[in-house]
Amino acid sequence: MGYRCAILGCGGRAAGHARAYELIDRGELVACCDLLEERATSFAEQFAIPRWYTDLDEMLEAEELDVVQMVTTPTIRYSLMKQLSDARVPAVIVEKPIAIGADDYRQLRELEAESDTKFVVNHQLRYHPRVLDLLEHVQSGGIGEVRCLDASAMLPMNGQGVHVLDLMFAFAGYIEFSAVQGACAGFDDINGTHPSPESASALISFVDGTRGVLQSGEGVPVMAQDQPRHMHKRIATYGTTGMTHWTMHSWEKTVDGELQTGEHVYAEEDTQGQANLTNATFDWIEDDDAVAPTNLATSLDEWLVILACYYSTVHKTVVEFPFDPPDDLLEQYIDFVGAKWENPHA
Ligand SMILES: NC(=O)c1ccc[n+]([C@@H]2O[C@H](COP(=O)([O-])OP(=O)(O)OC[C@H]3O[C@@H](n4cnc5c(N)ncnc54)[C@H](O)[C@@H]3O)[C@@H](O)[C@H]2O)c1
Repeated sequence: MGYRCAILGCGGRAAGHARAYELIDRGELVACCDLLEERATSFAEQFAIPRWYTDLDEMLEAEELDVVQMVTTPTIRYSLMKQLSDARVPAVIVEKPIAIGADDYRQLRELEAESDTKFVVNHQLRYHPRVLDLLEHVQSGGIGEVRCLDASAMLPMNGQGVHVLDLMFAFAGYIEFSAVQGACAGFDDINGTHPSPESASALISFVDGTRGVLQSGEGVPVMAQDQPRHMHKRIATYGTTGMTHWTMHSWEKTVDGELQTGEHVYAEEDTQGQANLTNATFDWIEDDDAVAPTNLATSLDEWLVILACYYSTVHKTVVEFPFDPPDDLLEQYIDFVGAKWENPHA
């Protein structure tokens, strides 16, 4: 039967997690859980999941789970992750964005340091077949030495900016960064649960001299005509001898100086990417050294870039690393732009 897996939170995004099991043969969904009974039952029926719950503790006690896929909103990350860690769940896949501010960032850092649970953040984009192909090309020296990364998304930072930031780290080879200069404007709380600037940009200096340009929200490059706002994620990687460029619709890469191009269907790539991420989680359960690239520690490093953007904007300064953000940094930013926001789950 393989790994016993369950979905926690049966809202809009959870279907993408469940659909991936059509491509997975090392585990199966044995249960799902949502506070709202109607959501839990209809989700269980839609994906033929044998048991459903409305209480997490009850599910954990009954099911002896290997993996929980936490598909809940970012305003309630820490408490649920701590509950799963205390229950000694071996691995948890947790949706992006990993945090909303600096106080939850700090709690998650502490949890990451003390927990035996293997937390994988759900940047399934990192595992799309096309992205894996381009990453392999870059990592094997196909474009020479990486010098500049340019990533953008039309939805705000906490909606999709974090996905392309994660890709930037992957294409940069996860090297450390030394400074961030950010500029954020406006406020958008996306469904009340994803507090974010309306637009944000960051110049990132990596320690080896590589430059990163990250932009989200208004004013980003439009990647295809007549497409909704969420269909404009992209990342370009420029090296000493060539480049790669991934968008949600197309790809480009130079091979021995020749430009190759093609197209792909995002939805197909995404289901395979979700299956690949789930399999990477199984690999990590089996082998402590097979750490999933989108692990919690790495995702928190990436989140620090977003916090540096807030700090840079509010305090009008470049942020040098190491950087220890003040706990109330999100509130400082919200005050700075003159907005009001209350965490619905506080
Ligand atoms: N990776 C991606 O491509 C992608 C795409 C879309 C959304 N997301 C992310 O997925 C997350 C979820 O988004 P969504 O649109 O599905 O949200 P949603 O609000 O539709 O669903 C969340 C569900 O979690 C349930 N829930 C909350 N607390 C719970 C608890 N303690 N126990 C059981 N159930 C609980 C809610 O009742 C709700 O049904 C967000 O962080 C979002 O950013 C990721």
